[in-house]
Amino acid sequence: MHSYPPAFENWWIQKACKTLACREIKDCAKHLENDIQHLSDLLTTERSLSFGGYAGDERSLLAYGLFFFPQTFARIQFPLLETILFHGWNPPDSRPLRILDLGAGTGAASFGILHLLQQENPASPIHVTAVEQSTPSLGILKKLAADQASEYPNASFEFRQGDLVDFSSWLQPDDPPWDIVVLSFSLNEAFFGSARSVIRGWLTELAGRLSFHGIILITEPVLKEDNDRLEHLRDALVKDPAPPHVWSPCPHQQPCPLFSSNRFTCHEVRNWNPPESLSLLNRHLFREIHLLKFSFLILGKTPAPKPSDPAQVRLLAPVTQVKGRLITAGCAADGCRHEYELQTRGMDRPAIKQLCLLSRGDILHIANPKPVGSHSIMRIPDAAAIRTMFTLNPK
Ligand SMILES: C[S@@+](CC[C@H](N)C(=O)[O-])C[C@H]1O[C@@H](n2cnc3c(N)ncnc32)[C@H](O)[C@@H]1O
Repeated sequence: MHSYPPAFENWWIQKACKTLACREIKDCAKHLENDIQHLSDLLTTERSLSFGGYAGDERSLLAYGLFFFPQTFARIQFPLLETILFHGWNPPDSRPLRILDLGAGTGAASFGILHLLQQENPASPIHVTAVEQSTPSLGILKKLAADQASEYPNASFEFRQGDLVDFSSWLQPDDPPWDIVVLSFSLNEAFFGSARSVIRGWLTELAGRLSFHGIILITEPVLKEDNDRLEHLRDALVKDPAPPHVWSPCPHQQPCPLFSSNRFTCHEVRNWNPPESLSLLNRHLFREIHLLKFSFLILGKTPAPKPSDPAQVRLLAPVTQVKGRLITAGCAADGCRHEYELQTRGMDRPAIKQLCLLSRGDILHIANPKPVGSHSIMRIPDAAAIRTMFTLNPK
C-alpha cells in the first residue's frame, strides 16, 4: 500500500486556495465543509437520478478533490494489489500497459493504479484512456495529468468525453484491447435504474475488449442498492462459462452466501493513512476517514490463474479476542459463510497479537476446522492450522 503522494495533495490545496481566494487549507476548510458534507451524503446515503450533477459544480469538484480523491487513489490499490500479489497477475512486459478508466471523474483511480505500478516497475510504459461524461471533470483530469507528468514520465493519457454505457460514444474502431479496465464508483451512477440484464450484456461486451490477460476492477459504495446490483451481477457471472470470470473477492464460484442470507453485505473495510489536509477537512465532519469501505469485484477475461484452495477463507470480520477465544467470520471455499473460533489456551501473547492483526479481506488457509455442536461455528484446531495466503497488514 503506497501512501497518498504530497504532489497530489499540494496540487488540490493550491487549486482550492486559488479558486476560493484563501491563504491556506484551513481557510478553505471553512468554505468547503458544507460541500463535503453534501457530497458525502450524495455518495454514501442519498440517491437520486441527478446525483451525478455534482461534477458540474466547481466547489463540489474541489470538495471531491480534497476529500474523496485521496480515498479513491488509495482504495483502488487494494484490489489491484490483490490481483498482483494473490492472483499472480503481471502487467505485459513487451508493450505498454493499457488502462481504460470508465467514469474517470478527475482521474483518482487511474492515478492510484499508475502510482502503484510505476513504483513497482518505474521503466514500464503505461497508457491511460479516460472516459468521462462531465466536461469540468475531464478538464481537471487533463490539467492534473499535464502538471503531474514529471512524476510519471512513462505514462501517457488520452481523454474521451462520452457515455460509458454507450460504447459507440467513446470506443474507436482501432482501439487495441485493454489490460486493466477500471470502474471506480461509476457503475452505480451510469446504470442507476437500469435492468440487470442490460448491465450483464454491457459487461459481456466490455469483456470482449480485454486483452488475453485483461482484468476489470469494479469498486462500489457500500449501499444496499449498489451492493444488490453488484451481487446480482456476480451471481450471474459465476453461473456463466463465458467471460468475464470472477477472481475476487469470492473463494468459490457458488451463489454468494452473504447475499442469499439477506443479513450481510460483502464489502471491504481497509485501514489507510489519510493525508493531513483530509484530516483537517474532517475536523467538524467526524467521518471515519481512516477506514476505506467499499464493495468490489475483480473480473478476468480468463478464469483466475490458480484455482481456489479448498481450505481458503476470506475474512469477513477482524479477529477479536473474547473470553479465551479468538473469533472471526469468513467466506469459505465450500460456498458458505462460517464463524470461526480458536481457543487461546496454550498460545503465547505474540502469537495472539499476530492473529489479531489480521483484518477483513485477508485470505487464509484454515486446515481442518470442525463444526461446534449444532451451530455454524467452526473450531480451528490450533494456531498452526492457520496460514496467511494474502494480507496487506503490517507484519
Ligand atoms: C463517484 S464519481 C467517481 C469518479 C472516479 N471514478 C473516482 O473514483 O474518483 C462517478 C463518475 O462517473 C461519471 N459517470 C456517471 N455516469 C456516467 C456515464 N454514463 N458515462 C460517463 N461517465 C459517467 C460521473 O460523471 C462521475 O465523474
